[in-house]
Amino acid sequence: MKIAMMASEAAPFVKTGGLGDVAGSLPAALTRAGAECIVMVPKYSTIKSEYTDQMEHLTWRESYVGIFRLKSRRKKLQIYFIDNDYYFGARGTVYGDFDDGERFAYYSKAVMAALYYIDFKPEILHCHDWETAMGIVYCRALYGTWCPEVKTVFTIHNVEYQGWADPTFFDNTLGLPEEYRCKLNFDGAVNMMKGAIETADLVTTVSETYARELMYPYYAHGLDGILARNAWKLSGITNGINMELFGPDKSTGLAQKYTPKTRKAGKTANKLALQRAVGLDEDPDCALAVMVTRLASHKGIDLLCYIGERLMQRRVQLLVIGTGEEKYEWFLQYLQDRFRGRAAACLEFDPQKANLAYAGADIYLMPSKSEPCGLSQIIAMRFGTVPVVNATGGLKDTVWPYDPSSEQGRGFTFQSYNADDFLAAIDRSLQLFYDEPEKWARLSEADMSIDSSWKLPAQEYMELYKKAIG
Ligand code: GLC
Repeated sequence: MKIAMMASEAAPFVKTGGLGDVAGSLPAALTRAGAECIVMVPKYSTIKSEYTDQMEHLTWRESYVGIFRLKSRRKKLQIYFIDNDYYFGARGTVYGDFDDGERFAYYSKAVMAALYYIDFKPEILHCHDWETAMGIVYCRALYGTWCPEVKTVFTIHNVEYQGWADPTFFDNTLGLPEEYRCKLNFDGAVNMMKGAIETADLVTTVSETYARELMYPYYAHGLDGILARNAWKLSGITNGINMELFGPDKSTGLAQKYTPKTRKAGKTANKLALQRAVGLDEDPDCALAVMVTRLASHKGIDLLCYIGERLMQRRVQLLVIGTGEEKYEWFLQYLQDRFRGRAAACLEFDPQKANLAYAGADIYLMPSKSEPCGLSQIIAMRFGTVPVVNATGGLKDTVWPYDPSSEQGRGFTFQSYNADDFLAAIDRSLQLFYDEPEKWARLSEADMSIDSSWKLPAQEYMELYKKAIG
């Protein structure tokens, strides 16, 4: 099966969040499942020279669109970069420019032209998030005769960003046939994600629960009606993680690598190193709860602020790693000052320290208000760090509630976005940690053994592609 994948970021070339991880590892998993896959990414100026040096330039046409291909011996997986100095070279950041709508519409159109130029006729065009939404639309509107058989799949990772633009954007920039005006029109403006949802053959998101939640206004940021109308083509496939990259026997930045067998010694060594590194009291026996997160409200930081003082009355250490909204940074700084040695805030994102935190912690906190999938709880479990989560979206689908009598389940959950419920779930985890250490050890080991690789999700995508092709 021939698949063209479009994404505005893909690790290791460019990554600002989970989408980068997914687009960086799903294509390889698809090729392992038998597909032939190409990935098309904008050629940002921030891509390191170790990659750009390995690119070959496929020249192209008078108004400059560069197509670069990363030299690779893997015939079935090729990575292409769309180059344009004005849109991607001279910016320095991936997102956040005044003309992002135009930048990514340009990229989407360029990808279609590039497919034609390199003569890759995909059976599936798979696009991720609003930045690639126009890929779906252009594919249908402008390349239908060249590639009439192609089926399109649109995946929603973040419904909050939809690619809104002024209504004049349709005429002045997009250059589409008139019949697409109503598909893109939403509340009198242009909404590119809506255009993709209306046009795609199938729409997916990154967990089953989130696919259901998207029918409700609370989660859908205005698109609930559109998604409910298109519910017949919407499904959820939970993300995997790159097990070669994330794991206590693989990741960099650890004081000591470990496996389920050497878990106890390994976690203790990492805990002591972590405590030293972030200024917490060195105490191997005290439960250590961590969060590695963007400090944004939908990540549930408000709940942590609300219970912060009370949490510190327990025998527990708290570490938060991340950057974001200033009010949260202030609060975490305050907590660190008030409970020196017991609370710590690392207000910068350092991937090595994040790995050490996954390895050295006992408990991983993820009280997100909504969470399409969430990767950090999956990574935490891989390190034997037991998650405490709000049972929403992908958190609900990956962290099954633990029952101490049957010893089934993977972590501690609470059922509504409520700070006291969050604290009660943390209390249940602490109770198991201190009062039933053997059960805790078994839970932590079981979490480490979960197969959260891309193998199963890749098969599910292959099934979905087959369904699209009919
Ligand atoms: C977005 C979502 C996150 C998901 C990731 C990858 O960042 O917020 O839940 O895990 O995309 O799909």
